[in-house]
Amino acid sequence: MVDYELLSRQVQELASEDPWFLPLMANVSALLYETLPDLNWAGFYLLHKGQLVLGPFQGKPACIHIAPGKGVCGTALTEDRTLRVDDVHLFPGHIACDSASNAEIVVPLHRDGQAVAVLDLDSPTLHRFTARDQEGLEKTVLILEQMIHYE
Ligand code: SME
Repeated sequence: MVDYELLSRQVQELASEDPWFLPLMANVSALLYETLPDLNWAGFYLLHKGQLVLGPFQGKPACIHIAPGKGVCGTALTEDRTLRVDDVHLFPGHIACDSASNAEIVVPLHRDGQAVAVLDLDSPTLHRFTARDQEGLEKTVLILEQMIHYE
């Protein structure tokens, strides 16, 4: 079972070392990819010029641009809530970057109260993400929101 308390402390340590979004998101995606079992992708998309653009990640090369409202990522951004999808093939408009992905969780990241990025995790296993994962990942994102710098 993932120790989300430990994960939160590790994210805090990484952010205290350098809060700039680029190395921080890069290391957090690596930390998540290493810590959570059974993932095939972990990373970030950032809102840039009205679109979600691929940010730091671990896994196979992925779609670069996602329009707000499209796919799981764009929907989580516009609805401003976590989307935990048990079977991505049943999600209308799901964007398949890797055909191995079967389940997905997307958590929005806020800046000054606005959703400006998303954390996206994919798994080859249906029903991979639990309510406990959601809670742990939302806490992790909260720490990121509090500590991250974009300039
Ligand atoms: N499946 C996502 C696209 C991003 S990849 O999973 C890395 C979506 O539907 O938004």
